[in-house]
Amino acid sequence: MNVQSGAARYSADYDQPVRGDTITADRYTSREWMEAEYENLWPSVWHLGGVTADLEEEGDFIRHNFGRESVIMVKQADGGVRAFYNTCPHRGNRLALGDVGSTPRITCGYHGWQFDPDGTLVHVQDEDDFPGGSPCGKVHLSELRCETWGPFVFWAMDKDIAPLAEWLAPFPERLAGYKLDNWVRVLNVSADCEFNWKIIRDNFNESYHLPTIHPELATFINDGLPTTLFEMYESGHNSMWMIGHQATSRKDYVSGDVPPGLYEAAEAWGIDPKEYRGRTADIREAVIEAKRKHGAERGYDYDSMTDQQLVDYFHCTLFPNLTITMSPEQCQILRTEPHPTDPAKCVFQHWCLYPPVEGMKEVETPVGKAPLKHDAIAQHSVYGDGVSLGFVADQDLSIGTTQQQGLNSRGFQGCLLTYQEKRIQRFHELLNDVVLGHPTEHKAPAGE
Ligand code: FES
Ligand SMILES: [Fe+2]
Repeated sequence: MNVQSGAARYSADYDQPVRGDTITADRYTSREWMEAEYENLWPSVWHLGGVTADLEEEGDFIRHNFGRESVIMVKQADGGVRAFYNTCPHRGNRLALGDVGSTPRITCGYHGWQFDPDGTLVHVQDEDDFPGGSPCGKVHLSELRCETWGPFVFWAMDKDIAPLAEWLAPFPERLAGYKLDNWVRVLNVSADCEFNWKIIRDNFNESYHLPTIHPELATFINDGLPTTLFEMYESGHNSMWMIGHQATSRKDYVSGDVPPGLYEAAEAWGIDPKEYRGRTADIREAVIEAKRKHGAERGYDYDSMTDQQLVDYFHCTLFPNLTITMSPEQCQILRTEPHPTDPAKCVFQHWCLYPPVEGMKEVETPVGKAPLKHDAIAQHSVYGDGVSLGFVADQDLSIGTTQQQGLNSRGFQGCLLTYQEKRIQRFHELLNDVVLGHPTEHKAPAGE
């Protein structure tokens, strides 16, 4: 792969070298790779566990099942949040069995041991029957690191991991203008899928598939290579700024009529699209102006956003498995998590958060209109059973199963990437370092 040049635009400040390690198929198919990830990767990163809206009162909790692990995040008397492994110190039974709940005492369903929200054991049956005396007040639930950022709660297994804000950098600073703190999670959907979790991570690490998998986006998002900006950070996170409110420069939409997606986007801000025939690229500037002028009267708080944030799409891809896609009116969380035992399966999750806008009762989510309230649409399904996870997400997921099948072939010799897919190369080289502890050999794939 030629990693030195190409049509894609990488930020001069945030580019990273890659070595050219072969992206082997076994990482998607083998149990050894999956086990090495459980051992070396997942304990070393922060995990998004839930939203603070589910943690209002002391004793409110969220459970996050992750692969074979399960974690509970519990609201404390002092307003903080602590996270514990969801396992009873008596004989290991899982404590919380629901996704969200509230209880003054976390109680084990087996022998009834009870824990305060701070994880301290406070009640056992037959308290005087312990060889070392009563364990109450001495035994605690096993604790993890837990921190919040904006409306989100994160946990981490590594006690020495960097503080969350540092680990998330540069995104807390880059996203500050959107003022995410009070945004409302309206969509909370997930599905069991028949492919490895990295298949969708690769998909989010490139925009090469937009013209083929999401052709309709081209009418209002400019996915042309000279204008799309990729940034790669040393941490392993990366981002992509994609010009919005402008049709793709891959085709000549500029000199003709305004295409449908852009037409609607212009009309939504009182701009007459017909006036932009033959100069459709100018609509973006007109929308910036209209949002600055009319945003506040429509209840939006655009003051701290840059012009770019007002109209463009900012895709933040965090290592290893979390994507945050920002527009001024929608924050999408997209991620995949590993299956407990099968490398050819994963869980896909899609959340959408919206800013609270006075007087607004409904929002347009990727699966249709929904009331602007917490978890208005919350469901888990099996991909392929006909339940939508969002129009664009469905398109991405549609390639997952067939790609997994193709990767099982003896004929597949490692990925052959374009320059614009360099973020995929970097992602896998970081995985090689963290999961295997060494690069894979550089074997020239077919065609090089
Ligand atoms: S396993 Fe929890 S009380 Fe026995
Ligand atoms: Fe996609």
